[in-house]
Amino acid sequence: MKESSHNSFYITTPIYYVNAEPHIGHAYSTIVADVIARFYRLSGFETFFLTGTDEHGDKVVEAAESSGETVKAYVDRISKTFKDTWPGLDITNDYFVRTTDKSHQDTVREILSRVYAKGDIYFSEYEGKYCIGCERFYTDTELVDGNCPIHMSEPKLIREENYFFRMGKYQDWLIDYIDKHPDFIRPERYRNEVLAFLKEPLEDLCISRPKKRLSWGISLPFDDNYVTYVWFDALINYISAIGYPEGEQFKKFWPVAQHVIAKDILKPHGIYWPCMLKAAGIEPYQHLNVHGYWNVDAGKMSKSLGNIVRPLDLAKKYGLDAFRYFLLRDMVFGLDSDFSEESLVRRLNADLANDFGNLVSRSMTMAIKYFDGLMPAPAKLEEADISLKEAALKVIEDYKDMMEEFAFHKALIAVWGLIGRANKYIDSMKPWAMAKSDRQGLGAVLNNVAEIIRIVSVLLWPFMPQTSEKIQHQLGLGVVGLDLPLNSLKEWGKTEKVRPISKAPPLFPRVNPVRELKRAPLDTKHMKEQELRGSKRRDFHPDRVKLKKEEKVRDEPELISLEELERLDLRVGIIKEAEPIPGSEKLVKLTVDIGEERTIVAGLANHYQIDELKNKQVIVLTNLKPVKLMGVESRGMILATEDERGVYLLIPDKESKPGSKIR
Ligand code: MSP
Repeated sequence: MKESSHNSFYITTPIYYVNAEPHIGHAYSTIVADVIARFYRLSGFETFFLTGTDEHGDKVVEAAESSGETVKAYVDRISKTFKDTWPGLDITNDYFVRTTDKSHQDTVREILSRVYAKGDIYFSEYEGKYCIGCERFYTDTELVDGNCPIHMSEPKLIREENYFFRMGKYQDWLIDYIDKHPDFIRPERYRNEVLAFLKEPLEDLCISRPKKRLSWGISLPFDDNYVTYVWFDALINYISAIGYPEGEQFKKFWPVAQHVIAKDILKPHGIYWPCMLKAAGIEPYQHLNVHGYWNVDAGKMSKSLGNIVRPLDLAKKYGLDAFRYFLLRDMVFGLDSDFSEESLVRRLNADLANDFGNLVSRSMTMAIKYFDGLMPAPAKLEEADISLKEAALKVIEDYKDMMEEFAFHKALIAVWGLIGRANKYIDSMKPWAMAKSDRQGLGAVLNNVAEIIRIVSVLLWPFMPQTSEKIQHQLGLGVVGLDLPLNSLKEWGKTEKVRPISKAPPLFPRVNPVRELKRAPLDTKHMKEQELRGSKRRDFHPDRVKLKKEEKVRDEPELISLEELERLDLRVGIIKEAEPIPGSEKLVKLTVDIGEERTIVAGLANHYQIDELKNKQVIVLTNLKPVKLMGVESRGMILATEDERGVYLLIPDKESKPGSKIR
């Protein structure tokens, strides 16, 4: 590990405003922090993971007023929805901070007193344009056509006397610090963005609000007529929660602090916060890790658009681990991403059910079938085995580097490279053929594959802890989760004689995209709103509706009549027998019961094991003209679908009688 001088690690999420309930954007930042916290724990680091809620400021007061509750009752209620959401996403935060906590308020006052005593806070009159949505003043150059660039609304002109923090004084220091610490703010695009802000003279920061305008906040220690500006208050949570200034945790964790935020709050974290720390005589944090935005329906998620995506709904519908995997695999950390349930389902079926799920199920099935569930001992490694092992060791090293850089999608691509490699290894070693002639060779192959599965289960634990532990149980390793740390992966051959290798239900049942995407709307409010507007889910934006119409004109498919469709005799079949066809790599000979027995030749040998095919329900086109393939007459065709990852059989959703007609 690069940061080996410390063996502790501290990670924070933004503390979320309590003016809205948790959505997929909050869930992403929090899951990212969870994945990285788990990764460092797995690497043997003492880790502290902090999240919480930001409960002061105009925005929160406005939301409380419109809910009809007292501000205190309102913030308690919404803060609790955040706190209660996280266990449902397997978030392992060590502490949940609230800015209304007394200890936090005391720390804010302590920092203010220090900075005031130093002469870095002064009193002055100010007139400025203030956006309530952003809780900040804007300069004219920052506005777009006179509007706030984020909320597109005109800021209020406010003239009042306030306290100011001499932020400008720290401008040169900050530029120099960022120059000397190139990965202080990462990825690089956000470092550049901060440096671009710093090209303009840095104005002092207004850090108070008169109580006559806003009374919900932390009183200034040196003037009781004012409360603290919400950002000066909120940022301090990162040190108040770990016992600044004297607490043991502060001493241990602050030197290794890393923040996770999205690009929307880059300026407060990349500029205000380091300057505040410097003024208070505290070392800067170690890294600011900035990610992009999840967009929905090609635009921003917002309550008024009714397109809020709720994380717990998705986790419930598709499984928590699939949801966590999707978020971390689909977004390139630092860039924006479009959220769609369709792509979640695609990844679930292709990466999880097909690649990963199949690897585990086919190898466990063989170990049970051929060795009665007792994993055979490792044998001397042959060339193909050595190359598999070396590939695995390389993936472990690459994975560590990528995780430290927050390049989660790359780490997952590397792990999937290994999964693909193991699947190919099985295909080329053909263990089912070895079963007849070479039991020792068969044992060695299964042992090697079990090693890969063990390694993959450890690498995936930060992302998919439940699945990973299920596999570790199945492998019968005796220990799971954190008891299988990353450094246990240095040794090859750990799965020798472990018992029992149990058969378990599929890790990721395939999802029927057509049915699931229609079923159970994720957000009933969203659907209602769309019904009102008379449009379907994906056609929310007028532009998109237009585009769809144009596309239709261009790609009008050739239409057939019902009579033509009825000429196809499609029926449910059950594969009774499957055998390889000598001399053919691709073809298998199947005996299929479609109410009567048929011989059908299918190109499935590279995609399914012979044993897996037996007893599978399939859909058969029964009235296809017979053809002879490799000397075998085939009477019918088994339906399958193909994408870049492979071929999958179409199967009835529920067990159906052989010969049932498809209509
Ligand atoms: N309270 C401040 C943060 C203070 S931190 C000292 C705040 N709160 S917030 O509720 O608005 O949360 C903003 C953060 O939520 C973003 O920085 C990001 O972490 C997460 N996200 C909210 N919407 C998001 C997306 N659509 N996409 C990705 N993450 C986003 O700002």
